[in-house]
Amino acid sequence: MANLMSSTQKPWEHAKSGGSEHDALAARFVESLSYDTRLYKHDIAGSIAHARMLQHVGLISADELSAIERGLGEIQNEIEAAQVTGWPGWRIELEDVHMCIEAALIEKIGDPGRKLHTGRSRNDQVATDIQLWIECERCQIRSDIERLIRAFIRLAIDQGDIVIPSYTHLQRAQPIVVGGEAGAWKEAFERCRCRFENLSFDYSPLGSGAIAGSSLPLDREFAAKQMRIGIMDLVTDNSIESTASRDNVLDFAYALSMTSMWLSRWAEQWIIYMTAEFGTLSIGDAFTTGSSMMPQKRNPDMLELIRGRCGNVYGHLVALLTICKGITIGYNRDLQEDKRHVFAAYDTVRDCLQMATAIVKSAKFKSPDMSRGFMDATSLAEYLVTKGVPFRTAHQVVGSLVRHCIENNITQLSDLSVDQMNRLATPLAAGSPPIDKIVYDWLGAENVVKRYQTYGNAGLSGYRQQLDEWKKRLGGHDESPAPEKSLFGEDLKLDDHDAALIAAYEQAGRTLDDLPYTDEFEAIYKSAAGGRDRSAVFHRLHNLRKAGKLPKLGRTAQAAPLVTDEQQTILIELVTGAIGKLSLRDQLPFTDQFPAIVDAFNARTGLQFSPYQVWRVVAKLAK
Ligand code: ARG
Repeated sequence: MANLMSSTQKPWEHAKSGGSEHDALAARFVESLSYDTRLYKHDIAGSIAHARMLQHVGLISADELSAIERGLGEIQNEIEAAQVTGWPGWRIELEDVHMCIEAALIEKIGDPGRKLHTGRSRNDQVATDIQLWIECERCQIRSDIERLIRAFIRLAIDQGDIVIPSYTHLQRAQPIVVGGEAGAWKEAFERCRCRFENLSFDYSPLGSGAIAGSSLPLDREFAAKQMRIGIMDLVTDNSIESTASRDNVLDFAYALSMTSMWLSRWAEQWIIYMTAEFGTLSIGDAFTTGSSMMPQKRNPDMLELIRGRCGNVYGHLVALLTICKGITIGYNRDLQEDKRHVFAAYDTVRDCLQMATAIVKSAKFKSPDMSRGFMDATSLAEYLVTKGVPFRTAHQVVGSLVRHCIENNITQLSDLSVDQMNRLATPLAAGSPPIDKIVYDWLGAENVVKRYQTYGNAGLSGYRQQLDEWKKRLGGHDESPAPEKSLFGEDLKLDDHDAALIAAYEQAGRTLDDLPYTDEFEAIYKSAAGGRDRSAVFHRLHNLRKAGKLPKLGRTAQAAPLVTDEQQTILIELVTGAIGKLSLRDQLPFTDQFPAIVDAFNARTGLQFSPYQVWRVVAKLAK
């Protein structure tokens, strides 16, 4: 073995006299480690699935499997303990996340580790990893979008009745209300979210090998079923295509691009609203910047960056399309570049979504001067229609009234008397009943927004009619049993402490199951305990969740650290010893019993799990 290793350190390059690790330029050029370490969890999940399959078909023994599982579990814990980037196992000369983890495994457990790659190639490995990554991260994006939607709904609830102009061609069109516009953005982002929901990659590429499959009796379906994350339990039908394509990455990048496109349109709209000329909107000071020269300035830089970063995201999509263009059907190293772009696009869009949500939450609308622009002209034409005037004629009549106003410096149609209106209308609409005083109910922005009655209109009835529906649609994605309550809280009277607690929980951004013994929990406790101790805070959060009062954060809890069956048994024993049943686990955090369980568990297993890690295992076992 040793003489084989002497020519090149790369365990997969024995046929060559030397590898790129001997050439600094080549080593730097070929690596993807600088951007693919974030796949570590998925790489380990895929490896465990593969190892279980190898054992299932008799290619490795049960002992070898448990050594592999233990080794990979330890590696995952080490990586997480080192906050990923600090893990010493990342060795650039090994090129990528896959080889580093495998090398660390071999170092840890020896020969069983050398069996892991049986029937596998980095080509099907990376295809699997990226698919698991997308499966996992699209949930994050969806919940980011959900929060933005919620902010728009909140805006509609709080400021929905404020009358503002609508614009076509950026010219004043018809009066609308803020609720109507908030609903428009909500609708667009709802569709963005659906795009992520509809991405479906239930087919596992694992077992496709390098390109042609394997002569070993691999059970691909069995491996697919082992995948811990995602729902892959079907397998792809062609080993060549499944190692050669990145359609999933492209679909994901397209969904990101569409989200970015909408963010950019929204940002532009609100930048315009914030100008003195439009005078319709102000946003939180934190989201504007000053000028180094002009003391009065409050520039909408955050919105501009959201608008601008759409360019980056499109760039990544186009880069991905171009990378995939013209490569032969089979893995080519070009495909390694996919991650650079999809990760960057993902990070950018998440950032922008979070910033957008904060801005929407801070928005304050005000009605600008609605008297200019004759925005009630269409309403007046519709009034005439109700009198039996054909619409084309009504359009002509109102057109001539508007012209008359402009020529005589009259700013509003409602400044015309009924007589004046009739005098101007009669020659055009001869034989129609005369205009009467009722006409003033059809004029003026305030009146117009009350008159719209078509479903989906941008006036008062349009958004109010849909509010209930919005609650339901949001509710469908909420964690709680009565989710709309968590948003609008109609029934349950919350005390001040609860309101602060819920706000702190949302702010902390970590789901309840994942919260004990984290910094986020401490932050909640510090800011919103309201005199309760830690354990009581945790219980209160549980009760609030049960009552549907906690917003769904959507973050999937981090995967629990891996433990062997034996370690599991020890932990179950300790927990049931303390509280009787595993299902009562929620009683445990922040009691005196829990540190004792952690100590006993670590002592008996030789592990060094933190209380958080032990809790995560307990929570997983209880499920
Ligand atoms: N890091 C590589 C990637 O991301 C792994 C695949 C390398 N495969 C190969 N046949 N050289 O695509």
